[in-house]
Amino acid sequence: MIAADIADELVAAAREARQRAYAPYSKFTVGAAVLCADGRVFGGCNVENASFGATVCAERVALFSAVAAGCRGIEAIAIAGPGGQPVPPCGICRQVMVELAPGADVIMAGDERTRARTVAELMPEAFDAGELRGCT
Ligand code: THU
Repeated sequence: MIAADIADELVAAAREARQRAYAPYSKFTVGAAVLCADGRVFGGCNVENASFGATVCAERVALFSAVAAGCRGIEAIAIAGPGGQPVPPCGICRQVMVELAPGADVIMAGDERTRARTVAELMPEAFDAGELRGCT
C-alpha cells in the first residue's frame, strides 16, 4: 500500500477533480486521481451524456488521461464521491484497471470513511491479456 501521506494527497486531487464533474443527469459527481510511477498525478471526473451509455466514469477519464500523456506503471488510484461512504468503482472501470493498472492500490474516499483495496482484490479472476495468448 502506498504511504499514508501520498494517499491523502491523491484523495485531495480526486476531490479537486470532482468539482469539475459534468453530471447533469444523475447529479452524482465523482472525481478520481491517478498516481504514475514517475510521480505525475492525473485527475478525472465523470462526464455524462444525454445518451446515457456515452457517459464515462471519473476513474476511466483519469486513467485514459494518464496513459495518453505517456504514463506507464500506475501505482494508485483515488476515487472521491458524494456522501460519507466510499464509492466503489463500477465493473467497467475495474476491467480498465486490470488492463492499465493491474498492480495499483485503489483508495475510495467518502467524507467520513475511506477504504483501500488492490485492483486484484476488486477484480478477482479477471479476463486479461493472458487469456488471449495463443489466439492473436
Ligand atoms: N460513476 C463514476 O464516475 N464512478 C464510479 O465509480 C461510479 C459511477 C458515475 C457515472 C455516472 O455519471 C454517475 O456516476 C452515476 O452512475
